[in-house]
Amino acid sequence: MANKLLPKSPTDLLSEIAPDVERLYNRHLEAPRLWFPHEQIDWGRGQNFADRPWTADDYPLADGVRSSIYVNLLTEDNLPYYTNTLLMHAPKDHPILDWNHQWTMEENRHSMVMRDWVHISRCIDPTLLEEGRRVQMHKGEVPSPGSLAELITYVSFQERATQIAHRNTGAKLPKDDKMGRNVLALIAGDETKHYLFYRDLAMAAFAIDPSTMMIAAAKQVRSFAMPGTGIPSFTRHAVRIAREGIYGLGQFLRDVLDPVLNLWDVDHLAGLSADAERARQELSDFIAKMSVTVDRMAQKAAGATPAIS
Ligand SMILES: [Fe+2]
Ligand SMILES: [Fe+2]
Repeated sequence: MANKLLPKSPTDLLSEIAPDVERLYNRHLEAPRLWFPHEQIDWGRGQNFADRPWTADDYPLADGVRSSIYVNLLTEDNLPYYTNTLLMHAPKDHPILDWNHQWTMEENRHSMVMRDWVHISRCIDPTLLEEGRRVQMHKGEVPSPGSLAELITYVSFQERATQIAHRNTGAKLPKDDKMGRNVLALIAGDETKHYLFYRDLAMAAFAIDPSTMMIAAAKQVRSFAMPGTGIPSFTRHAVRIAREGIYGLGQFLRDVLDPVLNLWDVDHLAGLSADAERARQELSDFIAKMSVTVDRMAQKAAGATPAIS
């Protein structure tokens, strides 16, 4: 029997995980979510911007919700660079290549349908949006996990975070914007399926090589950033989005890290190397600190006096 304490080579992990990639890819295909972007849009509501230039009064909305639509759409726009990152970890004859192609095909419709809704509904400034797209895509700035283990841990967190960001943004739209609510719900549904693929692929990888995965997960949690850092004024928008209660450190901890790390059962993994045990401790310490920060932020937001420690 192989010694679980010894980390495997990246090539070994890739070849041993191939059957799990096929299994989870087939599961994904068995529950298709076939929807057409053009059918989600009420085209008759559109007006030429040349005839009636955009103003904020076209669609009154809190700044944080506008920021969220702007950041989430530009993040979807940056798809070519994410696909490029995924392909760097996919050898030609490996089933993960088929998954990457499927994933790219599904992701591509997100920016299409969102932009159509944004332009028809006038919910955000189209000129600001296009300027942001030009700047971001010219930079080509995306997270670059260094190995397959790091990639599948990062993408598990990122797909879950993206699902929550779209879902919570949709919930903040006015009730009468059925088109917008439907568009964001469809996208969030796709992100859920992507999350389930990566989350369960990572779980399979933990069973194959727990030490490498533990080190990778600890590293990705500590360095996690949403994939929109190349967006102009990203930090300002991120603060507004967090203040609006759509997505911030609290959601990252409670809705992303807690469920995913519990499912991977990182607290009870056996057979870890000394380096992986150290990584687990560092992860635990990091999350404990994050919990304190999140609690303090919640107390501050509620107007309570923070406890002194
Ligand atoms: Fe997406
Ligand atoms: Fe996705």
